[in-house]
Amino acid sequence: MRVALSLSDVPEVEESANRLPKQAARKVLREATRADHERVDTLPLMRRLLDERVSKADYGNALERLTLLHTSLCAELADSVAEYAHPRLRPGDLLPALRSDLAELGRRTMRDPDPAPRLASGAEALGAWYVLEGAALGGAVIARHLRQRLDPDLPLRHFGRADERRWPEFLRHLESSLSSRSEIEAAVRGARSAYRFAAETLQA
Ligand code: HEM
Repeated sequence: MRVALSLSDVPEVEESANRLPKQAARKVLREATRADHERVDTLPLMRRLLDERVSKADYGNALERLTLLHTSLCAELADSVAEYAHPRLRPGDLLPALRSDLAELGRRTMRDPDPAPRLASGAEALGAWYVLEGAALGGAVIARHLRQRLDPDLPLRHFGRADERRWPEFLRHLESSLSSRSEIEAAVRGARSAYRFAAETLQA
């Protein structure tokens, strides 16, 4: 599979007279990280969630690792993303739902999270934040499957979250924050680094 690594690799977002087309940042990020996404969504821990024989333990394991991922990356992002703060959205917004699903499942013991990779700039941090936000997007399908297979009353605040405005709002923020070629390239570096960390953290 061809993976575009920089802005100039993506024909439809080629620069003209220094103006970047609308949605350049998201297009580049999505293309440049397609293979990284495939790597994480095919990890055994993730695949088991959509398996016919999924168990509550599988669900708890996935929640635990996702909580570790969000905890570590958010700690790293907290300062570095300040340059691109959003008036309403915060990288840590998804953590309370993960933690309360875990607690309700009775999974209270969790190892300390590994430290996340250093993010060198605000634009890199924004790229890593894009990965955290996107990680919840496949949630509706997963929530429906788990309800059917395990228990209609399963705690599913994270995967079953129905805030349809959040992702478009985050994408608008991404586009208005990253306007130059070098900022978008930095965001790609941050996103790829976050995906590598996710692949390690979600490795069962
Ligand atoms: C079973 C596991 C997973 C499934 C089934 C899944 C599925 C999906 C789907 C269907 C989308 C597109 C949603 C849409 O456009 O409305 C998506 C997007 C995305 N996912 Fe996943 N995903 C999984 C795991 C992950 C994980 C673990 C991460 C990150 C650590 C991740 C990061 C992203 C990102 C960043 C996007 C946005 C890509 C874009 O710009 O369109 N996903 N995922």
